[in-house]
Amino acid sequence: MCGIVGVLGNHEVAPLLVEALKRLEYRGYDSAGIATVNAGKLDRRRAVGKLVNLSDLLVHDPLPGKTGIGHTRWATHGAATVTNAHPHQAGPVAVVHNGIIENFRELRAELTAAGFTPGTQTDTETVALLTQMHMAGGLSPREAAARTLSRLHGAFALCFLFEGEDDLLIAARKGSPLAIGHGDGEMFVGSDAIALAPMTDAITYLEEGDWAVVTRAGAEIFDPAGRRVNRAMTRIQIDATRIEKAGYKHFMAKEIAEQPVVLADALRHYIQNGRINLPGVDFAAVDRVTLVACGTASYACHVAKYWFEQIAGLPADIDIASEFRYREPVLSPASWAIFVSQSGETADTLAALRHVGDKVARTLAVVNVPTSSIAREANLALPILAGVEVGVASTKAFTCQLTVLLLLALKAAQDRGRLGAEDLSRRLDALASLPGLMNHALGLAAAIRAMAGELAEAQDILFLGRGPMYPLALEGALKLKEISYIHAEGYASGELKHGPIALIDNRVPVIVMAPRDGLFDKTVSNMQEVMARHGKVLLISDLSGIDEAGAGCWETLAMPEVPDFLAPILYAVPAQLLAYHTAIAKGTDVDQPRNLAKSVTVE
Ligand code: F6R
Repeated sequence: MCGIVGVLGNHEVAPLLVEALKRLEYRGYDSAGIATVNAGKLDRRRAVGKLVNLSDLLVHDPLPGKTGIGHTRWATHGAATVTNAHPHQAGPVAVVHNGIIENFRELRAELTAAGFTPGTQTDTETVALLTQMHMAGGLSPREAAARTLSRLHGAFALCFLFEGEDDLLIAARKGSPLAIGHGDGEMFVGSDAIALAPMTDAITYLEEGDWAVVTRAGAEIFDPAGRRVNRAMTRIQIDATRIEKAGYKHFMAKEIAEQPVVLADALRHYIQNGRINLPGVDFAAVDRVTLVACGTASYACHVAKYWFEQIAGLPADIDIASEFRYREPVLSPASWAIFVSQSGETADTLAALRHVGDKVARTLAVVNVPTSSIAREANLALPILAGVEVGVASTKAFTCQLTVLLLLALKAAQDRGRLGAEDLSRRLDALASLPGLMNHALGLAAAIRAMAGELAEAQDILFLGRGPMYPLALEGALKLKEISYIHAEGYASGELKHGPIALIDNRVPVIVMAPRDGLFDKTVSNMQEVMARHGKVLLISDLSGIDEAGAGCWETLAMPEVPDFLAPILYAVPAQLLAYHTAIAKGTDVDQPRNLAKSVTVE
C-alpha cells in the first residue's frame, strides 16, 4: 500500500504533491510527507495522521521548490511517527516507497558496519542509506540508485530525489505498480494514473523490474538487466467528477447510492440485443473454474461458486488469495482461473495470478481498474464498470463484481447446454430489473438509520444466511466491523448450533438475511433457535417472508421481491446501509477507517 508521487514541474510543486497525495490517500493515511529540491537544497516536511495535518504544517512552514516527491503511508515496519514517515532522507538522497524491502535487516547490518547508521524502524530507510553509501563512494545519483536497486529483495515502487539535482527523479518498480506521466515540459511519477489525473492524461506504465531516469525532457526506461526499453504511452480517461463526493457526506454514501446507475452501465455493456456480450468467452471445453480474491471480492467469488454450480453445473473452487499458493492447489489444464479485484493491484491476488501462470487453460480478471496489473497480466480482463471507488469499504464494486460473475455463470450455463434460450432470456430480463429493485432497497435507509443507534451500542453482532446468502452474511459482518469497529461475524445459519450459539444473549443483535427462497424455512428454524435464547433478531426478508416469520423479531426490513438467483446482489444493499448508519451513529471515520487502506499492495 502507501501512495507515492514525484513531480518535475514548472511551478511550485508542494500544492501539486499534496493534491496528488489526496488522490492517493486511499492507499494509507498513517502519515504523509513531501520533499523538494530548491536551489539545489533538499528539504522535507512530514506529519503523522491524515494528509490534512501535512497541509496544515505546510501553511506554517512552506516548502518551496519546483521538483519534489511525496508519500502517504500505510505503516508496515515501524509505528506511525514523524521519524518513520516518508520521504526518508540520508545525506543527499530522499526516497519514497510503496512495498516491503524483505532483506532490509541484512542491509541494515551491512550499512551499520559501514558507518551508515539507521535512525528509523522502517525498511525504506535502508534504500536511502544504501544510495547515500554508494554516492559517498563516488557514484553518480543514477549509478548509485541502480546499484541500490540491484541489492533489494521484495516488492517496491520507489522514487528517488537528489540534492543538487533539480531535473532528476529516479523511479523503479518491482511488484508494486508505478506510472510515469508526461506533461508539457514537466514530468510526473505516481502510484497510479488517478493521482496524476489533474496534471496529465499521458501515462506510461513501468513493467515488472523496470527503472526509469526521469527528467523534464522525458523518461529513459531500463529493464532489470540495464537495457534501454520502450514502454508505450497511453491516454487515460479519468472522469474527475467521479472522484468528488457530489453533495454526499461520505464517499461510501455516494457509492452505495450510485449502485443502480453503475449496475445499469454494466448491464448495458454485457447484455446487448437480449444476448450476453462476452466476446471470446466460451465455457464449452472448461472442466472447472477456480475463483481467487481477497476480502469483499472473495465473498463475491463465494456467491459465484453457487451460481456456477447451481446454474451451469460447472464445478467451482474458491480460495482467498493469500492462502491459494500455499495450499499447493491442483489445477486442471482444462480449467479457467478467475481473479476478482476492485483495485486490480492487490498483492496476494496478483501473486496468485502469477502462480497460476499457464497451468490452466485461461486466466480471467474481473476488475474495476482496467489499467491495473491484474487486468494487464490476465489472459482476459472483464471490467466491472463500477466507476472510481474511493470509500475504503467496498460497496458498488461488490455488486458490480457479482453482476459480472453472474453473467459469466449464465454464459457457462448457456455454453454447456444447461440453460435453454427461454430460461436464459427470462433471467436476463430479471437482471434488467435489478437497478430498479436496488433503488427500492435504497429506500430502506431511513428505517435502517432509525435502528442504527441501538446497533451501535452492541459489543458483538452476528449475521446469518444460508446458501448464497451465507457469503452475504460474511460480507455484512466484514462491512460492519471494518467501519464501525464493532465485532461482527457471519455464519452459515445451520452452523450456529455447532458452537457460535453459545454467544447468544439479549445483548447480541443477530441479523438474519433470508429471502423467501427454497431455504427460507430452514433459515427461519435457525432464527427461532436464536430467539428461544433471547437473541435480538433483525430479519431481512421480503414481505411474504416477514408476514410468515417476522413475529417476535426485534426488527424487520422488508425487501422487494426478487428472483432467488438475484437475491445476493440485492441484499448487499441493506448490509451496506446497516454498516454505514451504525458507523455514523458511532462517529467513526467511515471513508477512512483506522488501520485500513483501499489498495493492499503488500502480501
Ligand atoms: C472490504 C474491502 C476489502 C477488499 C479487499 C480486496 O470492504 O474493500 O476487503 O475487498 O482488500 O481488494 P481488491 O478488490 O482491490 O482486490
